[in-house]
Amino acid sequence: MTRANYCIHQTGLAASGPLGARPGWARRAGDACVGPPEGADLGRSWRLILSTETWETYWRDYRSPDWWEKPAPEVLDLIRSLSPEHRPNVLDLGCGLGRHAIAFGLAGFSVTATDASSEAVQHLVHWARSLQLSIQTRVADVLDRTLPRGSFDVVLSYNVLYHGTRERFMTAIEHVGCLLKPDGIFYFTCPSREDGKYGFGEQLAPHTYKCDKSVTPGDVHYFADECDLDEMLRGFDSIRRWMTEGYWDNRGSRQFYSNWNVLVAKKAGRTARQQDRGG
Ligand SMILES: C[S@@+](CC[C@H](N)C(=O)[O-])C[C@H]1O[C@@H](n2cnc3c(N)ncnc32)[C@H](O)[C@@H]1O
Repeated sequence: MTRANYCIHQTGLAASGPLGARPGWARRAGDACVGPPEGADLGRSWRLILSTETWETYWRDYRSPDWWEKPAPEVLDLIRSLSPEHRPNVLDLGCGLGRHAIAFGLAGFSVTATDASSEAVQHLVHWARSLQLSIQTRVADVLDRTLPRGSFDVVLSYNVLYHGTRERFMTAIEHVGCLLKPDGIFYFTCPSREDGKYGFGEQLAPHTYKCDKSVTPGDVHYFADECDLDEMLRGFDSIRRWMTEGYWDNRGSRQFYSNWNVLVAKKAGRTARQQDRGG
């Protein structure tokens, strides 16, 4: 049994839901933000639940980053739809090797990029330097509380937030709400229940699997449906929600993917969005 496997069971993930049981994480009166208190130890069990060690190993051993260095077309569309004058500050949360952070940087945005993997962040540091791009980088968990609140115009989290439990996913969404300026834009992706990985591997909680058909087998995925997304996104106005589906080559096997793409804005005035549309 791997260490990650052991820790998942130790935290009682399937039984009680670790977030609710974790002391010191309760919402404070009058504070719309959730997540660990300042300076909290985002410790071993949380990291392992989210498979971050799996990703660290993956990035360390990865030898042909070509695919991971090419921005997703949806993100390029997003970049084209936004103006760096009206929405200058972008956060790439779970940036990986940094393909989207670089794309935003090249388009003139001021970019902060974070990832739990130091290997991935180091890669981005070198890549940005080679392009003479200034990108703020940080090795950090998605729930890290040291990023300035209310300071980002755009938060992107591409294929990141569903790595873990539903509770954790929802906490991460609320945390993004805290990081965004009023009317700030949030774009994220997550697998639907039609995805080829759904239902395979050890089930840890409803719609939550320790996936054996993922890019990094053994990592935990939560699979969302439409109602779920509605519930998790109450603090946001929906701009657009759509699916991307197709097949990918999973070590020689053709595997179906089905991902939600979610574009929302933090609830508050419309000014910045009108500006995006040239209004
Ligand atoms: C599928 S990759 C996506 C990387 C990048 N967003 C992209 O599209 O190229 C998932 C990334 O999420 C990161 N990650 C997973 N759990 C995390 C956590 N709890 N905090 C920060 N990063 C995390 C992993 O290290 C990995 O780089």
